[in-house]
Amino acid sequence: MIYVTGDTHGDFERFQEEYFPEQKNMTKDDFVIICGDFGGVWDGSKRERRQLDRLEQLPFTLLFVSGNHENFDRLAKYPVEEWNGGKIQRIRPHVIHLLRGQVFQLEGRLFFTMGGGKSHDIEDGILNPFAQDFQEQYVLYRGMGARFRVNHRTWWKEELPSPQEYQQARETLEHINWSVDYIITHCAPNSILDQLGDRSYEHDQLTDFLEEVISKAQFRYWLFGHYHDNRILDKRYVLLWEQIVRVL
Ligand SMILES: [Fe+2]
Repeated sequence: MIYVTGDTHGDFERFQEEYFPEQKNMTKDDFVIICGDFGGVWDGSKRERRQLDRLEQLPFTLLFVSGNHENFDRLAKYPVEEWNGGKIQRIRPHVIHLLRGQVFQLEGRLFFTMGGGKSHDIEDGILNPFAQDFQEQYVLYRGMGARFRVNHRTWWKEELPSPQEYQQARETLEHINWSVDYIITHCAPNSILDQLGDRSYEHDQLTDFLEEVISKAQFRYWLFGHYHDNRILDKRYVLLWEQIVRVL
């Protein structure tokens, strides 16, 4: 069995048995995939470690792609390994980060993964925590109710893929003739983004790349998160938030 859900942002209540009773019939050979903004690797606190231990105890294997809201400094510390045809980082033995530009073979189907996203609530800027006037700026911005983030604390440039990750993605897809079963991303391609009806969602280099994937790839379903809604667009583009849907 493979289920997919949207952003969790460090809150895993939806995986409690009362909300997700299907897990009674699942084993560690079954998967739930989170479409980015996992948020479970954030502050490294004791509370967070206990939470990750609880995720490990769930009856299924939990997979996630990155969103824009991840602590990329902490994520980078986990070693990379090969798993089912692609590169991963193991946060716990059964809590697994699926890296960008990879293809994984799960239950006989091919899944292309391309996490990442551009934060869209940061129009007032990114503060540098090492700047001399950081404290003053921070208090000022908070007081104004500004929409801002702090570099390396609440925002990381790695939220968007690097040139190497785009290159890896193209090579991976080339290798399998751009033919997959499922595409798992955090963001939507441009043409789908335009249908969401919210003008604050702008095109960027990642959504441009995902549009290129539409033009070249064959796939059954494309599942993504980020936009905090549950909707199906153009029959095979599935935007997920708190819903958990079965794809296999
Ligand atoms: Fe997001």
